[in-house]
Amino acid sequence: MTSQPNQAAFDWTGRSGEVWRDNQSRLDRMLAPYGAAAIAAASPVPGERVLDVGCGSGATTLELAARVGASGSVLGLDISEPLLSRARERTPQGAPVSFVLGDASRHDLPTGAFDLLFSRFGVMFFDDPAAAFTHLRTALAPRGRLAFVCWRPFDENDWVRLPMRAVADILPPLPTPAPDAPGPFAFGDDDRVRRTLSTAGFIDIAITPFDSPQVYGEAATRDEAIGAALELALQVGPLARALADQPDVLRERAAAAVRAAFETRATDQAVTMDGAAWIVTARNGA
Ligand SMILES: C[S@@+](CC[C@H](N)C(=O)[O-])C[C@H]1O[C@@H](n2cnc3c(N)ncnc32)[C@H](O)[C@@H]1O
Repeated sequence: MTSQPNQAAFDWTGRSGEVWRDNQSRLDRMLAPYGAAAIAAASPVPGERVLDVGCGSGATTLELAARVGASGSVLGLDISEPLLSRARERTPQGAPVSFVLGDASRHDLPTGAFDLLFSRFGVMFFDDPAAAFTHLRTALAPRGRLAFVCWRPFDENDWVRLPMRAVADILPPLPTPAPDAPGPFAFGDDDRVRRTLSTAGFIDIAITPFDSPQVYGEAATRDEAIGAALELALQVGPLARALADQPDVLRERAAAAVRAAFETRATDQAVTMDGAAWIVTARNGA
């Protein structure tokens, strides 16, 4: 197994939140197919009340709002003020949307107030996922629905495996996090997801693989597209975290190695890598 960067280094209220905010349009483009698949699985209908957990800069919050319409509502809940301020900025006036700052694992939520709990990659960062989902379930109406998308394991995800393999011989060995440590791959094990949701009181749990290419960098020329992909990888995600404390000389060697790796995935105007996710659906057992 490829060694993975320390997954614990997430600072959504600070640096991680800021880099996600600054790269919002590129990340939204990359993650759009996964959000669309999760929304299709959630099947929101006009009039429903939705909670978007870990909504970030609000792309899915707005998509869900378009589905539930003026008779419905969507509340975006996130722990990161930089991301929520971007979400508020981009929300059209009159949209049936509101945002609240809070830790989804404990934020005070109205009991039974939502028909659907939704998340695009926002539920893998809880210290105690079973406790967090137990808490979130109290906000769900009886028989209400849960739908989210999360990553499958690190080794199945080309977008992270490729650059991390490229730097494996350049950087000092990275600590291997516990498989259930909070982080992007915390729900890679579908048995763990099933156990967690079942412990939290959900029923009818379905976990389906979903694979999609991701446009990691896009530009007018192949070389610029590779440059854009490299710029993103150096700022956001596991490679950025692995390089954060390294000296410039290693960072430069790592960047050259990752550029060469991205060349293998480049077409005329884009660098595209594959991603592997789970689409998870369940119902409130109460
Ligand atoms: C990978 S980002 C996904 C953001 C957004 N859902 C999207 O698809 O663009 C993870 C998000 O979860 C949020 N998050 C992490 N832990 C959280 C918690 N305990 N409560 C609420 N939000 C959390 C982060 O601030 C971040 O916005």
